[in-house]
Amino acid sequence: MIIGKPFLTTEQIQNKVKELADEISRDYEGQEILVVGILKGAFMFLSDIVKLIQVPMDLDFLVASSYIKTQSAGEMQIHADLREDIRGRHVLLIEDIVDTGITLNYLHKLLMERNPASLKICTFLDKKSCRKVEVDLDYIGYQIPDHYVVGYGLDYENKYRNLPYIAVFKEESAK
Ligand code: IMP
Ligand code: MG
Repeated sequence: MIIGKPFLTTEQIQNKVKELADEISRDYEGQEILVVGILKGAFMFLSDIVKLIQVPMDLDFLVASSYIKTQSAGEMQIHADLREDIRGRHVLLIEDIVDTGITLNYLHKLLMERNPASLKICTFLDKKSCRKVEVDLDYIGYQIPDHYVVGYGLDYENKYRNLPYIAVFKEESAK
């Protein structure tokens, strides 16, 4: 057995997504936003949360990575940049999980240089104890301990993203 029982069940996930969407809808009331999903990991969270956010939005995607297996490589790669011009727009970045903070620290700097009207970050999971660089998170689903987790968009070597729940992954049991 590689994957244990759910660490966060589908129901816990959906309840939290609704809470976050309500908070975001209140904060941006009367404004139009540009939601930016950081792929691949955020695809499932993104598709759930946009259905529940009650303000008009455009969508765009960034494909970025900093990870090799379960260790942060610490080096960022942008595989596909935004297609939208973000100048003067209210940008909401959607991320699956923040670990060292390197990804979002880098992306925040990169996007701020393009002069958005505002730039906020929403992450489903936060492993705060693993932070190596500072990053300001505006919306956080769950704070979790230093476990490697998979499912709900999160992968191990590009697998398990399709699980409808989040589970703790133990590398040694994969062999
Ligand atoms: P950071 O740059 O170290 O903050 O890492 C952020 C990225 O690493 C996330 O967007 C994930 O894609 C990946 N990552 C970090 N922790 C995990 C995990 O526990 N499971 C799966 N992917 C993770
Ligand atoms: Mg990610």
